[in-house]
Amino acid sequence: MGTTIKPGPFLRRNRGHLNIFDRANKKIAAALIVVALTAALSCGPRDPREAPTRRQGRVEADMLNVFFTGSSLGRLKPCGCSGGQLGGLERRPAVFNSVPVEKRLLIDTGSLVETNSDQDMIKFDIIVEALGLLDYHVVNLTEDDFEIAQNRGLLGNPAVRFISPYGTGDEMAIGFQNRYLLNTEYVTVSVLTFDVDRSPLEQIKEGFVTPEEGDKTVNILIVSRCDEEVVSSIAPLGIVDCVVCPSEAEEPMIIGSPSRRPLVFSVGRYGRYICRLQIEKAKVRDRFKFKFTAIPVKGDLEPDAALVDLYRGYQQIVRDRNLLERHPRYVLPNGLKYVGSQSCKTCHESEYEKWHETGHAHAYATLEKVGSQFDPECVVCHVVGMDYESGFVSAGETGHLKNVGCENCHGPGSEHVKTPDEAYSTAPKSTCIDCHTPEHSGEYAGNERSFQQKIIHWTEPNAPGNVK
Ligand code: HEC
Ligand code: HEC
Ligand code: HEC
Ligand code: HEC
Repeated sequence: MGTTIKPGPFLRRNRGHLNIFDRANKKIAAALIVVALTAALSCGPRDPREAPTRRQGRVEADMLNVFFTGSSLGRLKPCGCSGGQLGGLERRPAVFNSVPVEKRLLIDTGSLVETNSDQDMIKFDIIVEALGLLDYHVVNLTEDDFEIAQNRGLLGNPAVRFISPYGTGDEMAIGFQNRYLLNTEYVTVSVLTFDVDRSPLEQIKEGFVTPEEGDKTVNILIVSRCDEEVVSSIAPLGIVDCVVCPSEAEEPMIIGSPSRRPLVFSVGRYGRYICRLQIEKAKVRDRFKFKFTAIPVKGDLEPDAALVDLYRGYQQIVRDRNLLERHPRYVLPNGLKYVGSQSCKTCHESEYEKWHETGHAHAYATLEKVGSQFDPECVVCHVVGMDYESGFVSAGETGHLKNVGCENCHGPGSEHVKTPDEAYSTAPKSTCIDCHTPEHSGEYAGNERSFQQKIIHWTEPNAPGNVK
């Protein structure tokens, strides 16, 4: 590959912060200058085989940390429905900040949202803003991401550096490069994004920019599709150190052996983990040692204040856009309607009282406590009948349908309250697992009986004095 840059969609590239005054990397640039000066002053001629240098009392086994996230798929943060949930944009800084700014590279591989619904469009904006606040070096846009970002006029966002193989104009880069000082050597890390179905794989070679004279290189390739055939065609190019595949599963995965080169992995979904690739000089000359770790984004990590605010802002936008009232609703069969738990109380006093002591009867207040009572993605499981006409619309309009009520489980009651002696309608009812999903109720599976025990409000069929 020559140094001349030909015009054309593939060869457009982005030299990252090699331009040391690049706005988005000011912090790193400043840190780099400091590090570079120290190195220049105290190192003399560099010998790549030299042992880690001892300076200012620190023994540095110098290490570069590349953090990868991706496939957030709209999960700004975990819902909080049950304990032990992983993820949340606001907890990422606690992981990133465990290493110095000048020794890290933050990459998001894209797939920011799941659909193109109104709510996902709001999330898209929020995630882009979050990635800017988090100081990501580079954000890859998948084909869907690219289309959304373009439609929303976000491609020129100065706070985030996008790369994508789907741009047609000159404004969209396909690669990014950053330079690091590791012990006494410069390492150029390049990131290239590539659609394996659009361009011949040989073009990958030209995509990686020639580093500064004398620099070592680490080349990272983000691909649009991954299978053994793709990987085995990339390996012989001899230029790629690391291939990032789209995530098929929630957990990050190394595909093949951790010692194979290129190292092939995917980052997992929903931001539950942050993948860290530690790059360190190996004993063998000119080689790097890679260490891959999937770091769970746990609930006990300190949340970042700016991102907590951003989420509040999101809740406010969701409220302002009235998404709850605009939620699509199905018509109930046979002209049935929801009447609310209060209407059952007159004839089912004891059932009502027992129900009232369960968490179900306070499910809406639970959302109010966390500010999500206007978010349809939450409200749907915390009220009665939101997916149907005559079901919950808003606390003001349909206050009698707040909470998980009788009709969630027994169906809309308009006919039964009029003709109680006839069989209760067969209209839509939810079963426990419709709401107690693995995601929202981690403890439910395997403990069905004890969950059932806690909500008993009915008299055992054979018990004496079973009055209804
Ligand atoms: C006017 C009084 C009255 C009201 C109001 C009423 N019920 Fe009933 N319900 C009854 C009677 C009486 C029975 C018993 C019928 C029987 O024993 O077969 C019954 C039976 C039931 C049953 C068992 C019936 C079956 O077919 O499995 C359920 C469940 C039930 N009611 C739920 C509700 C719910 C939920 C509401 C509120 C939407 C409600 N009821 C409102 C009087 C009422
Ligand atoms: C419409 C959705 C929905 C359905 C259907 C549902 N739940 Fe729940 N359940 C919830 C929500 C929401 C909460 C959390 C309530 C809170 O604390 O805010 C909850 C909480 C609970 C709790 C803990 C509350 C407590 O009082 O300790 C138990 C136990 C439970 N559900 C059992 C069941 C069982 C058993 C079923 C099926 C018969 C069921 N649920 C069906 C939504 C549902
Ligand atoms: C698929 C249905 C479902 C959706 C969607 C849902 N929840 Fe829940 N939520 C539940 C269930 C079920 C529980 C009870 C879980 C348990 O006790 O195992 C619960 C419990 C909770 C709790 C109480 C946890 C506790 O015990 O203190 C909070 C808070 C909560 N949800 C918030 C939310 C928020 C915020 C959203 C939206 C981002 C949301 N939920 C969306 C079903 C749902
Ligand atoms: C979380 C789901 C859920 C909620 C909420 C709920 N029930 Fe039930 N209910 C059940 C289940 C499960 C049973 C027992 C098994 C059955 O009959 O299907 C039951 C049984 C009953 C029975 C006895 C039915 C029979 O055939 O003997 C009545 C009556 C009843 N519920 C009324 C109510 C009333 C009134 C409310 C609201 C105040 C209510 N339920 C809220 C799930 C629920």
